[in-house]
Amino acid sequence: MSKMEDIQRICLQRGIIFPTAEIYSTISGFYEYGPVGFLLKKKLIEYWREFFVESDDNIFEIEGCTVLPEKVFEASGHLKSFVDPIIQCKKCKSLYKADDFITEKTGVVVEGKTPKEMTEVIKKNKVKCPKCDGELAEVRLFNLMLKTEIGPIGSQNAYLRPETAQNIFTSFKRVFRSTRSKLPMGIAQVGRSFRNEISPRHFIIRVREFNQNEIELFFDPKHPECPKFNEIKNKKIRILTREAQKKNKKSVILTAEQSLKRVVRNEWLVYFMAKEFEFYKSIGIPEEKLRFRHMLPEETPHYSGGNFDLEIEFDFGWKETVGNAYRTDYDLKKHMKLSGEDLTVLTEDRRKIVPHVVEPSFGMERTIVGILLHCFVMDKKRGWNWFKFPAVIAPYTAAVFPLVNKDKLPEKAREIYDNLRKHFDIFYDDRGSIGKRYARSDEVGTPFAITIDYQTLEDNAVTIRNRDSTKQIRVDIDHIKIFLDKTLKSLK
Ligand code: GAP
Repeated sequence: MSKMEDIQRICLQRGIIFPTAEIYSTISGFYEYGPVGFLLKKKLIEYWREFFVESDDNIFEIEGCTVLPEKVFEASGHLKSFVDPIIQCKKCKSLYKADDFITEKTGVVVEGKTPKEMTEVIKKNKVKCPKCDGELAEVRLFNLMLKTEIGPIGSQNAYLRPETAQNIFTSFKRVFRSTRSKLPMGIAQVGRSFRNEISPRHFIIRVREFNQNEIELFFDPKHPECPKFNEIKNKKIRILTREAQKKNKKSVILTAEQSLKRVVRNEWLVYFMAKEFEFYKSIGIPEEKLRFRHMLPEETPHYSGGNFDLEIEFDFGWKETVGNAYRTDYDLKKHMKLSGEDLTVLTEDRRKIVPHVVEPSFGMERTIVGILLHCFVMDKKRGWNWFKFPAVIAPYTAAVFPLVNKDKLPEKAREIYDNLRKHFDIFYDDRGSIGKRYARSDEVGTPFAITIDYQTLEDNAVTIRNRDSTKQIRVDIDHIKIFLDKTLKSLK
């Protein structure tokens, strides 16, 4: 069993993440978050918000609808171009995502090739259906958006948004005006996106409903400087350049300043990339499992001024987890044209411009798999496997145990639990031996376990066990909150 399969099994067993509506035959590509998974995701999003939005006073967060009218996607190009190539078996009707399928079966990379060219590769290599050995039909294109109709007689076509970004573009002018902003300014959004993926796979790595945290950073192309660049210029990031990809070479570590000079050439892109690298390290992904891949010309949209994917190494290989794109003025111009609305803004020197946009687009599901995979500790010494979640994103900050279920210890433990519950996500456990309770607490990655024992009744102190070191210290009951607060802050 691969580590990924192991993680998936544990998520199922511990009710962390499991298939949607699983009591019926499941629809693939949809997952639910149980109590522990929900808290992990909630903490991750809160931490993300703190790290990327609240730290910048020119980035504003909005919340848009998931259903958007067809016109939005006509303008954005999704209606025409948000397609994947598919191939179907003529005999058993099995469907495959053609580009992945061809690469897997023939080793030929066909990303960016036309359906006709892909069909030729299949014919030339005599590829058959892996399920029934049947003949495969021609490759065709399939739109990945999920369609719906609005109103009782379905008079208006609409789509579940495939990215959160489009709400930001359509709301841009109103947000810019209402916040009385100047460029550069950013709009962030955390929310659901939907894609009718042909073959959902690798647990929640490729699903049909997922969370994106996106920022569109609007700037004047005549002044592309990032005012905070100095803060990150010496931060190091790992980049897999286009040249390295062509020559099968390794990624290189560069400072943000070197990256700007040699590869990325946009201060805002480098700013976000440097912050992303720090962020992902702080949530438990080892540095060597992170890299930015400069997308090859054939993978890059024609309007893009450069795309850099933050990839995490999973046990099945590297996978994009954050897309970083220089979207130029493409989206705003397209929306201006189709809607007839003026989306230009005035610069301080009174020029009327359509701002340019740099976009970091984070996928929460892939981030969560990265965390689960890289924080998972197989611990023979302890006798149980556990998650070494950084405290800032750990589902529960602490567990509270009475040493025994008698002699006023449960009452004291409940009192402490009720007080701490107002400030932290914590849980109470009084079942089984203390060893079993430590195991249960570790298994969901809880950084601290607080035990109330006989001595507590005498000295008003508790024992706090550190999950990682298993070391125990005595802390006065009145200082537990300060201790947890301080430790949480120092671990950020
Ligand atoms: N607005 C730009 C955009 O949507 P993207 O590269 O298509 O760019 C951004 O998506 C991120 O969203 C990806 O890096 C990935 O983490 C996540 N994502 C995209 N499709 C996904 C899917 N089917 N399942 C899970 N996550 C997905």
